[in-house]
This record gives sequence, C-alpha cells and structure tokens, in this order.
Amino acid sequence: MKKVLVAGASGYLGRHAAKEFKHRGYSVRVLVRNPEKIKVKGEHGEPVIYDLVDDVVTGDVTQPETLKDICTDMDIVFSSLGMTRPDFKHSSFDIDCMGNRIILERALEADVKKFIYISVFNAEKMLDIENIRAHEQFAGELRKSGLDYTVVRPTGYFSDMIQFMNLARMGIMPILGEGDKRSNPIHAADLAKICVDAVDMDKTDIDAGGPDIFSYREVGELAARIAGTSPFYLNIPLFIGEGLLALSRFINPDIADIVSFALAVSKIDSVAPTYGTHRLEDYFTAHV
Ligand SMILES: NC(=O)c1ccc[n+]([C@@H]2O[C@H](COP(=O)([O-])OP(=O)(O)OC[C@H]3O[C@@H](n4cnc5c(N)ncnc54)[C@H](OP(=O)(O)O)[C@@H]3O)[C@@H](O)[C@H]2O)c1
Repeated sequence: MKKVLVAGASGYLGRHAAKEFKHRGYSVRVLVRNPEKIKVKGEHGEPVIYDLVDDVVTGDVTQPETLKDICTDMDIVFSSLGMTRPDFKHSSFDIDCMGNRIILERALEADVKKFIYISVFNAEKMLDIENIRAHEQFAGELRKSGLDYTVVRPTGYFSDMIQFMNLARMGIMPILGEGDKRSNPIHAADLAKICVDAVDMDKTDIDAGGPDIFSYREVGELAARIAGTSPFYLNIPLFIGEGLLALSRFINPDIADIVSFALAVSKIDSVAPTYGTHRLEDYFTAHV
C-alpha cells in the first residue's frame, strides 16, 4: 500500500485530497496545525477527515522542530499548504515558499518518490504579485530538487466563489473593470482527483479548471439568481482599482496582494483546460 503525506490537510483542497487518496487505497498521513478542525465539516463544505485518515501529525511550518520525521516512510508528498488569508505575522514567502521548502527538505531526507504541489493558474503572468512569486519560487526549487514532481496550477476554487453569494445577499455586486473576463472555477473534489492522478503520470506541470466557463459578471448573476436577490451592480473602473492597490500597499502587503490579484484577473481571461463534473450552480444552491 502506497503512503502519502497530505500537507495543508485542514484546508479546502487538502481535505478533499486526503479523502481522495484514501478512497484510492493509500495510507494517508495528514499534517495539520489543529486536529480539532478536521473533526467537523468545513465552512465551504469540506469533508470531515479525522476518522478517515491513518495518521494525524500536528505541526506548523513556522516551527520546523514540529516537522521532524513528517515524511518518514512516505512514498508521496502532496502539499496544498499555503497562506490564503493574511495573518499579519507572516509573509506569503514565509509560508508558501519557506514552509513548503522545509517539507521538501524532509521529503528528500526520507527518500520520498514524488512531490505534488499546488500553485496558481496563469502564475507566469502575475509574477509581480508576492503570493504568486512565492508559489513559483517554491515550484522552481522543487523542479531543481531532483525529486520526481508535478506542479498543478488551478483556476479559482468554488470556495472562493462563495464571496459572490455573500455579496448577492448583501444586495451589492462590485464588478472590477467590465466584468467580462472569463474563468472556469473548480470544485476541490474534482481538483483532488487530478492531483491523485498526477502521481502516476509523467507530467511535471498541469493546468486545471472546472467544466463551466463564466465571465465574472455571469458568476455574480448566477449567485444573485440562486440567492433570489437583485443586487446593485457597482462597476468599479480599473483606474480606481489601481488607486486602491496603491493605497493598500501602504496598509499591508498581504492586503495589497489580494487587491493586486483581483485586478490581474479583471484584465485577463483565466480559462484552464476543463476537468471535473461539479457545477458552480449546484455548489451555490447548496450554500444558499
Ligand atoms: N482559493 C483559490 O481560489 C486558489 C486558486 C488557485 C490556487 N490556490 C492555492 O491552493 C492552495 C490551497 O488553497 P486552499 O483554498 O485549500 O487553502 P486553505 O483552505 O486556506 O488551506 C491552506 C492550508 O495550509 C495550512 N497552513 C497555513 N499556514 C500553515 C502553517 N504555518 N503551518 C502549517 N499549515 C499551515 C492551513 O492550516 P489551517 O487550517 O490551520 O489554517 C490549511 O490546512 C494554496 O496554496 C492557494 O494559494 C488557491
């Protein structure tokens, strides 16, 4: 039986990945900061995995001493570990790059066979954003490590699209730019399948999105229809977005990253190869 370490296992993608690895017959060790978190369903519908997995290790990548032996006896390491919300203590570089680097070092020491890492779709077009740069710096280190690897670069997750439902309920739908740029968001259960498939594939890089392509305005309209509201569509010209970005740089670099990312995806299409079966409409309906 193959053994996998899932890092970031309390998160949206990590929980689905742990479940999918288990479903495919792996022995699953998870790295979490707080084991209590995986005993209950997540706020975005993430599955309970505490009783499903074989081994729960408590650790924090900012405290390397808690990560001793995490990769011992593992064949595969999967990491969706990352800082997706500012904690006002650490930078993206500390967590996304340095944190994953420590896991990679442990993987090399333990003779792990393959490392699957999650970056971001279109990363090469957004390297001015610190968070994206941190992901890709780690991806570069992984490439040079000599370890067999795959970097999966997904579009936006369904969990992130929930903000459109929240805005629809509040009755206001801000649209940055024209709202005409398109993307195909993906459910973590579909993405988890791609990540587990990657273990037995030769591909070093996989771009992945969900089955349906929407413009940002269309996602807002879908959310409003399902929430049963008629929100006010507030068009924010890109130059105002640029002004907000300049302002946010004075406040906090992580907040600036969020604004910068929103601006970037308002200027370019982010349509990745389509995978999966989960529909955003069903996800919204389940979260009304
Ligand atoms: N959201 C999107 O639309 C999107 C799109 C493309 C790519 N991505 C990337 O995909 C990855 C996974 O995203 P996600 O939505 O699943 O994120 P998430 O739900 O926030 O999960 C992140 C995971 O990393 C863990 N983590 C954070 N800091 C840690 C630390 N210091 N030590 C140990 N664990 C730590 C979190 O633990 P806690 O539960 O304890 O916080 C959590 O398990 C991220 O790298 C993200 O940038 C996201």
